Amino acid sequence: MAEYDVIIIGGGPGGYVCAIRCAQLGLKTACVEGRGALGGTCLNVGCIPSKALLHASHSYHEAHTNFEKMGLMGGAVSVDMPKMMEYKQSVIDANVNGIEFLFKKNKVDYLRGWGKITAKGEVSVDGEVHKAKNIVIATGSEVAPLKGVEVDQETVIDSTGALALSEVPKRMVVIGAGVIGLEMGSVYARLGAEVTVVEYLDHITPGMDGELQKTLLRSLKKQGIKFVLGAAVSGVEVKKGVAKVNYTLRKNGSEASLEAEKVLLATGRKPFTDGLGLEEMGIATTKRGQVETDGVWRTNVEGIYAIGDVIEGPMLAHKAEEEGIAVAESIAGQAGHVNYEVIPGVIYTTPEVASVGKTEADLKDEGRAYKVGKFSFMGNGRAKAVFGSEGFVKILADKETDRILGCHLMGPMAGELIHEICVAMEFGASAEDIARTCHAHPTFSEAVREAALACGDGAIHA
Ligand code: NAI
Repeated sequence: MAEYDVIIIGGGPGGYVCAIRCAQLGLKTACVEGRGALGGTCLNVGCIPSKALLHASHSYHEAHTNFEKMGLMGGAVSVDMPKMMEYKQSVIDANVNGIEFLFKKNKVDYLRGWGKITAKGEVSVDGEVHKAKNIVIATGSEVAPLKGVEVDQETVIDSTGALALSEVPKRMVVIGAGVIGLEMGSVYARLGAEVTVVEYLDHITPGMDGELQKTLLRSLKKQGIKFVLGAAVSGVEVKKGVAKVNYTLRKNGSEASLEAEKVLLATGRKPFTDGLGLEEMGIATTKRGQVETDGVWRTNVEGIYAIGDVIEGPMLAHKAEEEGIAVAESIAGQAGHVNYEVIPGVIYTTPEVASVGKTEADLKDEGRAYKVGKFSFMGNGRAKAVFGSEGFVKILADKETDRILGCHLMGPMAGELIHEICVAMEFGASAEDIARTCHAHPTFSEAVREAALACGDGAIHA
């Protein structure tokens, strides 16, 4: 048995970042992880491996669509899935090993096994009890089941299965046009599968700016992905390795089905709290199974905190990291803070899509007067040079004060460009502040500046 200032249960982006921050602040810290590798869903079966496959499939797609146009001739590039998976695994391993190194460097104890809270200030790890003045629950999320759909990881797969296919399926049906569905659907469509996405709502990517939803949908359709919108999947039947996906069209109640060799279930995730001892400890949860916390990540039981996917809010690795740092600082007696108004969201399709702050729908609901500055990547020289002129930057600013309230963009490196706006928003900047900042030429970032100019007297290249 060891005694700690803090034990964090869960070694994903929320948990491991929290552990490192606690150690940096002089707290004796341990992090419990049961999956046999640090990094959680994100590093092992989520963000990082999917980005490896997105990069590989994008490169393949480029080789087939744009290489010749640039005078790059040669034999046709073909797909070797086992090799692609080896590459993906090497990316995972490098990242996971990096965290173990950081734990050693910061003197964080890595407790291997599944953690359970057995009493206030006590965590049992596979039966061995450790004491802690503070406990942080950072156990993340798992795939939410869908009635009538049984994931067997053979024919019907979830995101974990989709990251480990040994061959490209002929046909793939994706259930759910959220982030996972569109990213993994893109991977297999680029590699040659006939991909159809079936989505309950009449639009894709719930919660995103409406104009972005439409533009992204158009772009994905152009890439060959088919969509059935407004369709509720009621069940999947599998016979001899072929799945029949049954769905009901919401507008008229008619029923239809699609067949495919692989079905990807991507209809959301739910908090993962199995075996944690929440009930025994009387730790309050919401109706949706999230651990309830107050504004500073305290649960209703003294000395027990929770962060990341297991609590309310967007299930995003970077939101969990922010909370991990903030809760560590709170425990150390500092003023831990997360600005939930400035949490960017990125979808790593091609083109990438990124958003931060309010959408137009939010501002209309709030009755706030705003202005829109928009600039198309068609007017950006660098984008034209890399076949990336599809998409736009849209900045929303307060009509009176010009303060930036949100930004929604689709285009090359959107996931990087959004951070200029995040920093601006953290500093309470106006659109004019960005418009008057010199941006290097030729860069994609110039499109952000042009959108900011469009909030004032007008963009130059539009
Ligand atoms: P999601 O919540 O983003 O999307 C699920 C979609 O499934 C919704 O559009 C929903 O309307 C639809 N749906 C639900 N039931 C349905 C039914 N019966 N028939 C047809 N459609 C149905 O969930 P997703 O994509 O599984 O992602 C889970 C979480 O992981 C999200 O919170 C997401 O933000 C996060 N994530 C983030 C990534 C990123 O930041 N790039 C990458 C991957 C995941």
